[in-house]
Order: sequence, then C-alpha cells, then structure tokens
Amino acid sequence: MRWASVFLLAFLITWIYACRNNTAVKSNSEVKYKHPSYVPSIPIPEDNQPTTARIELGRRLFYDKRLSRNETQNCASCHALSSAFTDGKKTSTGAHGKPGKRNAPTLANLAWSKAFMAEGGVPSLEMQVLAPIQDTIEMDMPLPEAAERLRKDPILNQLSKEAYQRDLDEYVIVRAIACFERSFISFDTRFDRWYYQKDESAFTNSEKNGKAIFFSEKAACAKCHTLPLFTDGDFYNIGLYKTYEDAGRERVTYDKADNGKFKTPTLRNIELTAPYMHDGSIATLEEVIELYNKGGENHPAKDFRVRPLELTQGQKEDLLAFLKTLTDWNFVQNHTLLSLEQ
Ligand code: HEC
Ligand code: HEC
Repeated sequence: MRWASVFLLAFLITWIYACRNNTAVKSNSEVKYKHPSYVPSIPIPEDNQPTTARIELGRRLFYDKRLSRNETQNCASCHALSSAFTDGKKTSTGAHGKPGKRNAPTLANLAWSKAFMAEGGVPSLEMQVLAPIQDTIEMDMPLPEAAERLRKDPILNQLSKEAYQRDLDEYVIVRAIACFERSFISFDTRFDRWYYQKDESAFTNSEKNGKAIFFSEKAACAKCHTLPLFTDGDFYNIGLYKTYEDAGRERVTYDKADNGKFKTPTLRNIELTAPYMHDGSIATLEEVIELYNKGGENHPAKDFRVRPLELTQGQKEDLLAFLKTLTDWNFVQNHTLLSLEQ
C-alpha cells in the first residue's frame, strides 16, 4: 500500500511538472466561437480563423506585462474580467501613471463590432491591438520592440509557430490577441432566459415594468441599444454636455454634425462596468437614468430621441431593475470554457 502511494505521488509530481512545462497546447485544432442562434454569425478575417493555439497565445499575451515598456501593465490592468473587462476607474491610468482621457469600455461581444474606440476610428480588432500597446499614455511600447522582447521567450515563440507557422512578430501579436478577444462572448443572462428561452419566472414585476419602459417608443432606449447586442454600433450625441471637450465622431468625419457623437455602448453587464460614458463622467446607473429622464443637455447635435421622459420614482427604479437583468455572471467568472466549441 505504502509503495502504491509513493508511486502515485511520484506520478502526480511528474505529471504536474510535465503540465507546467508543456508548451500550452498539445495540438492546434480548429475551434468555433460559441454563441446563441439568435445572434448573427461572427465576421472573422480569413487569415485569423480561431484555433486552440491561436487563442491560447492570445490569452497569454493579453495577460503579459512585458507588453508595456516598464513591465507594469497588461491588457487586463484596464480590462479585468471580473468587471466585464473594465477597470472601475473614471479614466484609465497608463504604464507611467499618467491618466488617459477615456473610460475603459467592456470588451464583451466585440466580435460583432464594426468600428472600435468611442469615435469608431479603428476598423478591426486586429488593428485595435496596436493602439494600447503603442500609446505613450497606455503601454508605451513600439510593436517591433514588443515582438523582439517576447520572441526571446521560448514557450511563446513555440506557441507562435504552432499557431501561425512563424516566429513571434508584430503580425502574430495583433492576430493572436484579436483571436482571443473574439471569444469574449456574453449572452448568459436572466434577460436572455426570459426573452429568448421564454422562462417567465426569470423576471419580477418591477423588471417587467422596466423592460416595458426600455422598449417603449417614448424612452426609445432600444432604438439605439438594440437587440440582441444592446448596441446598434452607431454613433450618437445623447446630450451629455452643452459643449463637448472631446469632439467624438467629428474627429473621424471632420463633420460638425458629428460633434459629441460616440459609439453606442452595449448595456450587457452594465451593472459591472461603472463609471459610465466615454469619459467615465457618470458614476452610477441612477444618475444615467436621471440624465435620460431630463432629456439630456441641449446640444445642437443631440439625437431627437433623447427628450424629457417624466418618469416617476417607481418607474426609474423599474428601469434600473431591468438593466440589472443584463448581467452575465457565468461570463465574468470564467468566459473561455463557455464560448468555444471544439
Ligand atoms: C491603460 C489602460 C488600458 C490598457 C493597458 C489597455 N486598454 Fe484597451 N482601452 C482602454 C481605454 C481607455 C479604451 C477606450 C479608448 C477610446 O475609446 O478611445 C480602450 C479601448 C479598447 C478597445 C475598443 C473597445 C470598443 O468598444 O471599441 C479594445 C478592443 C481594447 N481596448 C483592447 C485592449 C487590449 C487588447 C489591450 C492590451 C494589448 C488593451 N486594451 C490595453 C484602456 C486600456
Ligand atoms: C439616440 C441613441 C440612444 C438612446 C435613445 C439611448 N441611448 Fe444610452 N447611450 C447611447 C450612446 C451613444 C451612449 C454613449 C454616450 C457617451 O459615451 O458619451 C449611451 C450610453 C448609455 C449608458 C452608459 C453605458 C456605458 O457603458 O457607459 C447607459 C447605461 C445607457 N446609455 C442607457 C440608456 C437607457 C436606459 C436609455 C433609455 C432611457 C438609453 N440609453 C437611450 C445611445 C442612446
């Protein structure tokens, strides 16, 4: 008996040690991103179809602090899974402690997004990766230098060869991270169970009233925060300010009519992503509801659907209760196992 346990222990130690040294994946197999059938299929670039090695490499890079000049920050420093890939700060602080101008948005369901950043100036997830790594206020690391640094890591470089059949370089970094980010898929909410799986018991009366307000013509929330993603991916001025310090969409189009317009954020997991708006200027959901209830500030480019709503206190609470049904607890606890199909 004693020998058996010694043998077992030795076996376990060898096994654990072998796993630690394993170059991450045994084989590089194709996988599919998994999402409900009521969501359109994901547009994926031809040269970046998901495989286990690509996603694993992307995951490692996403959490690698060597991607920032002084090795203090990784992507998760500002996009933490437990807060649905946000950082809880008004605006994010970069590698050198300098504050940025924008609030870190959720990265959930970005696989469906057609334009990235609050003004939509970046056309693909792959290209977006360049921004935070190279931005002097964020990670401050020119991509060729980042590639040179990471290529020296034999495990990462081996994984890169398995994933993209080449040494780890700029091409690989942007693709692997984007490949990993597309797996951030979040639809497992009480709302989805009620609306799509017809489980009436999933909603309280207050939440039902809130839902009616959300989808009403008057409040018009669902005109921009459209189903199933709770965003239409378009740009609007919602009257956050009378005059905007940040010109928003105008920075891309050079059109005055686009002043103060920003990408409609998804409202999925909204309970976990405070503070709110492109500049994190609104601390709570209660205050966001107040802004919409008063019809926003008067700005020449404000959308006509944002107008005084005259909600009672009870109705405001109902709307808040509805917004809280959009939280996907399984996602924030462990997304990778849920969003892949072998
Ligand atoms: C210092 C904090 C910080 C770090 C580090 C950081 N981000 Fe961000 N991220 C932000 C902020 C702030 C924005 C919003 C920028 C904007 O709208 O102009 C953003 C925006 C994004 C977006 C666009 C979201 C959308 O809805 O269009 C993606 C994708 C993203 N980040 C991914 C990453 C990845 C991948 C990394 C690591 C390589 C990373 N971020 C590192 C703060 C950070
Ligand atoms: C005309 C389109 C439009 C309508 C109508 C609209 N929204 Fe928005 N919503 C937006 C845009 C655009 C933003 C981002 C504005 C910014 O960052 O400055 C936003 C931001 C938000 C945010 C903050 C999201 C975040 O992550 O920071 C919440 C919450 C929200 N809206 C809820 C609602 C509710 C509730 C209603 C209905 C009462 C509503 N919205 C109506 C377009 C709209």
